[in-house]
Amino acid sequence: MYSTLHFTTKEAENLRKNLTNISPRGPKRNDLIAPAPSKENFDEIFKSMEGWAKANILPLLKPANKCWKPQDFLPDASSDGFHDQLRQLQERTKGIPDEYFGVVVGNMSTEEALQSYHSHINGTEIFHDKTGVDDTPWAIWARGWSAEENRHGDLLNKYLYLSGRVDMKQIETTIQYLIAAGQDVATANNPYLWTIYTSFQERQAAIVHGNMARLAKQHGDANLAQICGTIAADEKRHESAYTKMVGKLFELDPNGMIIALAYMMRRRIKMPSYLMYDGYDDHLFQHFSDVLMRIGAFNASDYGGILEHLVSKWKVKKLTGLSSEGRKTQDYVCELAQRITRLEERAQSKAIKEVPTVSFSWIFDRKV
Ligand SMILES: [Fe+2]
Ligand SMILES: [Fe+2]
Repeated sequence: MYSTLHFTTKEAENLRKNLTNISPRGPKRNDLIAPAPSKENFDEIFKSMEGWAKANILPLLKPANKCWKPQDFLPDASSDGFHDQLRQLQERTKGIPDEYFGVVVGNMSTEEALQSYHSHINGTEIFHDKTGVDDTPWAIWARGWSAEENRHGDLLNKYLYLSGRVDMKQIETTIQYLIAAGQDVATANNPYLWTIYTSFQERQAAIVHGNMARLAKQHGDANLAQICGTIAADEKRHESAYTKMVGKLFELDPNGMIIALAYMMRRRIKMPSYLMYDGYDDHLFQHFSDVLMRIGAFNASDYGGILEHLVSKWKVKKLTGLSSEGRKTQDYVCELAQRITRLEERAQSKAIKEVPTVSFSWIFDRKV
């Protein structure tokens, strides 16, 4: 009886394709090249960290009444000055090139797929919120983190809508496809892999939003610069929390963590929105990534730079108490950053020089 309730792999894949309409020529799912390392005593290790997490991690969440809100940066629709404020906003965005809008839409869609990240963290051992109101520091973190993240997509979405520069219907279509497509960022249900992934990903998000702030300022929109800068500051705070969790785990289980870190590096850290699709462009994520690099929102050296930063933050070179496998893995991880930077530099020069302009439905099919 039980088995008849389950789809075969093929049926599940077909169903998912129908829902997400991802063309077989489109982005490939993350085929597992190796099983994620697993561990039997996650419970024991994380239990021993609970007091530490309450003192060091939960204070990094801000209470709702002390957090910025999207309305702090947007025209106030209830005020008499709304139409003037709206006109000013649209005037400011006139000086911003289409390629910038292409990237900010991609960033916003990534933020708007928040459901997928919450579902991911909740599918992870330890962070899993069994009752929906669990009071472990890990469940409190997962809910609080998602609640803070919720404002990012909300603010960018409203700003883009008010700008009148983008095709909101296409953007909302992309977001719906993206959430329906789900994501596999190679962390399975393993909390070691999850905290490593999010350390990397939050830093990457902070870099991208930070660069978008700098570019918005150059294009004359100080308001949008402030918006992107404010989101970047949140991402930095989240990065700090996840990085601390990983640092503590390295202290408690250096062998388990070095293997987990090497595993994530071999799988590469994927942007969570790599399955994005707008109903037209089978290679939308690649095209978005090319423009992201071309405008300098994320640079060739950044990927390797993040790895180098984290390896130094977690003192990976100085780890002691490693098994012989652990020591070999340590060497691999330490020399990887430079290799990665070289590969990324090649990708960036390709993105800048060789990639032809493509049209994006998000900006009314204009080419960038
Ligand atoms: Fe975010
Ligand atoms: Fe974030």
